[in-house]
Amino acid sequence: MIPIKTSTEIAVMREACRVAAQVLEEMASAVAPGVSTQALDQLGKAAMDRLGAESACYKYKVGRNVYPAYTCISLNDEIVHGIPSQLRTIRPGDIITLDVVVRYKGFVGDNARTFLIEPVSQEVRALCKTTEEALYVGIEQARAGNRVHDISHAIERHVRFGNYGIVEQFVGHGVGRRMHEEPQVPNLGRPGTGAVLRPGMTLAIEPMINLGAGDLRIAKDGWTALTRDGKPSAHFEHTVLITDGEPEILTKVK
Ligand code: MF3
Ligand code: CO
Repeated sequence: MIPIKTSTEIAVMREACRVAAQVLEEMASAVAPGVSTQALDQLGKAAMDRLGAESACYKYKVGRNVYPAYTCISLNDEIVHGIPSQLRTIRPGDIITLDVVVRYKGFVGDNARTFLIEPVSQEVRALCKTTEEALYVGIEQARAGNRVHDISHAIERHVRFGNYGIVEQFVGHGVGRRMHEEPQVPNLGRPGTGAVLRPGMTLAIEPMINLGAGDLRIAKDGWTALTRDGKPSAHFEHTVLITDGEPEILTKVK
């Protein structure tokens, strides 16, 4: 069952997502060479505290693994779920993904963005541009009456154009009272299949795209997903509301 949010719930979702976007924005303004991913995580935590929100990632459990930080920060060949560390410092030529998931008044907002630390090669620049475009191409399909895999297919088509690898083991998802709700929103799929989208559904759409192949491995820390071939990976994510009309991007900073 895919939850349909009431107008009251949607109002709170808007607030939660606005907070998630603001936290990401504050962290983004501190992204620079020499800054550790741990320092960025602490900035995120401070922003959440100030805004009256909590991290939805902190102490999040998958099996027997417990997530130890407030945000996910993934560098270069790290796809998602990188654990912030004092020992990881941003360097020129890196790409860095900040993934921020907050809980606010009982609702979750989820967003992520990859940043370039110049000087970045043309091919990596193009990877990030294509991934961000793929997010918006997917959002364009997030309309009542369409099906979930219409979003997936639009993302896939856009990405295949550039011959990139699509990460299949991680997917977008419904989001609301919980971080991960139905439906799953893969980044590839057959159009006209999957659940029918209805007004009041809220989805986290999040293409994770690799410069090389889509295959991944999980690091010894039990969380960090890395590309198998060591090539870089980009990730852009918004939480989106299905309406009677245009998709509403809830994590857009206004
Ligand atoms: N945006 C990530 C996701 O949807 C956040 C994961 S939080 C973690 O999977 F705790 F699982 F890392
Ligand atoms: Co997500």
